Amino acid sequence: MEKKFNPALELSKKHFFGEYGDVNTSITDSATFTFLGAQTMVDTFEGHAEGCFLYSRHWNPTNKYLADTLAAMENTESAWVTASGMAAITNAIMQICNAGDHIVSSITTYGGTYAFLMNYLPKFNIETTLVDITDLEAVKNAIRPNTKIIYTETMTNPMLQISDLPELAKISKSHNLKLVVDNTFTPLIVSPARLGADVVVYSLTKFINGKNDCVAGAICSTAEFINSLSNVNDGTSMLLGPALDPLRSANILKNLYTLNIRMRQHSENATFLSHKLSEYGIKIVYPGLETDKGYEVLTKIKNEGYGYGGMLAIDMETKEKSYKLMESMQMKGVGYLAVSLGYFRTLFSNSGSSTSSEVPIETQHKMGLSPGIVRFSVGLDADMDNTWTLIKQAIDEL
Ligand SMILES: Cc1ncc(COP(=O)(O)O)c(C=O)c1O
Repeated sequence: MEKKFNPALELSKKHFFGEYGDVNTSITDSATFTFLGAQTMVDTFEGHAEGCFLYSRHWNPTNKYLADTLAAMENTESAWVTASGMAAITNAIMQICNAGDHIVSSITTYGGTYAFLMNYLPKFNIETTLVDITDLEAVKNAIRPNTKIIYTETMTNPMLQISDLPELAKISKSHNLKLVVDNTFTPLIVSPARLGADVVVYSLTKFINGKNDCVAGAICSTAEFINSLSNVNDGTSMLLGPALDPLRSANILKNLYTLNIRMRQHSENATFLSHKLSEYGIKIVYPGLETDKGYEVLTKIKNEGYGYGGMLAIDMETKEKSYKLMESMQMKGVGYLAVSLGYFRTLFSNSGSSTSSEVPIETQHKMGLSPGIVRFSVGLDADMDNTWTLIKQAIDEL
């Protein structure tokens, strides 16, 4: 792998002009498309007609602009956009797995993913073994003859562990498995496909769109895999139908071009805050701190120039203390007590009782999730000294 890959540069090389030379793309506001020749329609159905569109659940030109730009950013052959991050995750997994298959997954994942793996997939007799994804021996030992996928998040939600993607890719390749990686927390910072991931999934809802005005997702992979998802006969995305609205695609595409400056600023602000919090004696997880468990691996796998990300977690030990802190920070204007991440304002929530509430308490204990964990998505604040003063006041008043 060459060291310097700049995903923002790659995506910026894509230009999709509008119908009249518009600097932004035209929006294809149609569900269906006409054909001059009946045979061309048949060829399009069979996937043999380049540049023709059939029906917007299958492909839509505006969605394709966004998908092609994301593929350039991820350095994959192709991509597919979906109506939510969960649609991207569930479609990718269901395209790979058949009834009776097995998955090895990180024990710490987004709660919705956890619930899909543990509560929904058993309906199809698909079992999942949960492991500490940083324990490579545990990953190897969990593999069975019917395993199809190693599933992880580059930076796991909510414990912010870092997956050693090159090592996981080696394990995955040697067992002929697919490594599926959710890169929602670390766009631009890490490029999983370049490190050996077979499929990269995103919730575009978060950093990539960055405006908290819609829900969307993406799957980036080989052309073969993306084509299989959209196959009219047995493609999971074509048949389950989580199509993204092209009006939204056009908006997300515009926001993608400012992702580089936003990620840099999120990282800079989170780094500032992580130093202040740890100097103040608060128990903190931030993979950009040299003392953090994930620092070494993230330093090894990250692209240059985008920092260590905008996510950090502090441990207030009890749920009650964490609730009081969050309410007080919201009153003081630090940000909002809300789930989700990647917004220009700071968001904070108690992970155990919100985004990981689907995870049973015993499993929360096993993954080291304390009831007092407050996860921050640090915003694009213009004055972090001011933000820190407000947070410190809120801590001191507890
Ligand atoms: C890491 C991660 N992946 C996926 C999702 C799901 O994305 P969406 O809400 O867009 O369906 C989330 C949502 O919080 C998430 O945090």
